[in-house]
Formats: sequence, C-alpha cells, structure tokens
Amino acid sequence: MDVYEAVTSRRSVRGFLDKRVPREVLERVLSAAAWAPSGSNLQPWHTFVVTGAPLTRIKEIAVKRVAGREPWDEREFVMYPPALKAPYSERRSAFGKERYSALGIAREDWEARQRAAIANWDCFGAPAALFCYIDRDLGLPQWADVGMYLQTVMLLLRAEGLHSCPQMAWSQVRKTVAEIVSPPDGLILFCGMSIGYEDVMVNHPRTGRAPLAETVTFVEGLRTVTDRSIARSA
Ligand SMILES: Cc1cc2nc3c(=O)[nH]c(=O)nc-3n(C[C@H](O)[C@H](O)[C@H](O)COP(=O)(O)O)c2cc1C
Repeated sequence: MDVYEAVTSRRSVRGFLDKRVPREVLERVLSAAAWAPSGSNLQPWHTFVVTGAPLTRIKEIAVKRVAGREPWDEREFVMYPPALKAPYSERRSAFGKERYSALGIAREDWEARQRAAIANWDCFGAPAALFCYIDRDLGLPQWADVGMYLQTVMLLLRAEGLHSCPQMAWSQVRKTVAEIVSPPDGLILFCGMSIGYEDVMVNHPRTGRAPLAETVTFVEGLRTVTDRSIARSA
C-alpha cells in the first residue's frame, strides 16, 4: 500500500469485527511508528496496548459509568475551547450533522445520540485498543509530537489491513483506564485508539474536508509589503 492510499483510506471506523488482532502485527506497527519525528527526539509518547480480558474489563466499567450518567473524571486538559469560533464551530457542527444523519439519528434525539456516543467506550466493538499518555510537564510542541506519532500508527495499521478510531473520549473516563493499565504518576491520558478489522456492514461515510484554499496558502512571489521592507533594509 503506498502512502497516499494509506492516508486516503484511513478514516475513523466506528464498527469493528470481533476478530483478534495478532500481537506480532501490533508490535510491528508500534516498532515502525517509533520512527515518527519529535522535537529533539524526545519521543514523548507512552503507549499502553490493551487486548483480551483487561480490555473487556475497561469497556464494561466505562460503558456502565457512562450509561449510568456518572460524572466524567475531572479534565486534565481542555479538549476544545468553550467558545469555538468560526470556521471551527461550523466544521464541528457539519461533522455532527454528517455523523448522526449517517446513523439515522435526528439532531434533537438526545437519547439516541447518547446511545451512539456510548459505543466509544465499547471501542466500537474493536478487540484491541491503545491508550497514549504524555508527561504532564511537557509542553505544546510535545503534544504535537504525540499527534504525529498517533497518525503514523494509524497509517501503519492501514498497511496491515487494519482500521482505527482515535478517541479523546477516553480522557473523560481516564480513571477507569488507569485502574487497569496502572500508568506511572505524572502522565496524562491524551487519547485512546480502537484498533481492529472493519465491519463493512456498518455505514462509514467519509468525513469531508475544507477546500484546499481554506487551509493552505501558497506564497510564491514577494508581496508588496515585503518588497518595501526588503528595499528599506538594503
Ligand atoms: C485527537 C482526536 C480525538 C478524537 N476523538 C474522537 C472520539 O472521542 N470519538 C470519536 O468517535 N471520534 C474521535 N475522533 C475522530 C474524529 O471525529 C475524526 O478524525 C474526524 O471527524 C475526521 O474524520 P476521519 O478520521 O474519518 O477522517 C478523534 C480524532 C482525533 C484526531
């Protein structure tokens, strides 16, 4: 699979088969993902891979907590700014619309939306998950390093015929995860990731993207203001 195919075929899959993911495949993916770049090669990711009985236990407790409307664990980082401005707010509501209409759920049907959301904590049926932590003392650039690492993992999973769904939702029940994986003190759970073979019977519409011109600017000639400042400094 070439890199373009890995990138374009990766999407957040929210329905997995109950089919075991071999440990050696996960080891191969995570060994290769370690080659992801990081500022000064800090490699700030701490990854816990969970399968089998421990994952079943995490799912059971988390689903019970969420379905029972227990409060979330207190936040260790802000997931989204409380007042999300344009264009991000529009993109977020377009995503919500796409996702719930694919599931046939009306916008105002809070109960059905809640049921769909709960699938997060069942890993959408996936038989494997990873939980990625970062040291509390590290800064924004290291969080970006962890993002690059996670994307590298997701692309390598594609090369192995696997799919994934990254999930910040796990940070909301981080204590349940910690009970099972026992992370060392001082780590923050950034993201979980469901991993497995796609259930093609589940509807997985492609989430759209903004047109290139909205997010990318090609700068190919000196602009007038730069011309002037260059002339001044000459
Ligand atoms: C850091 C991060 C956290 C995410 N958290 C969740 C989550 O908790 N639950 C979920 O269903 N999707 C989650 N997603 C998936 C996004 O909704 C998805 O990436 C986005 O809508 C684009 O769709 P695509 O991944 O299918 O291309 C997350 C993605 C990222 C990168």
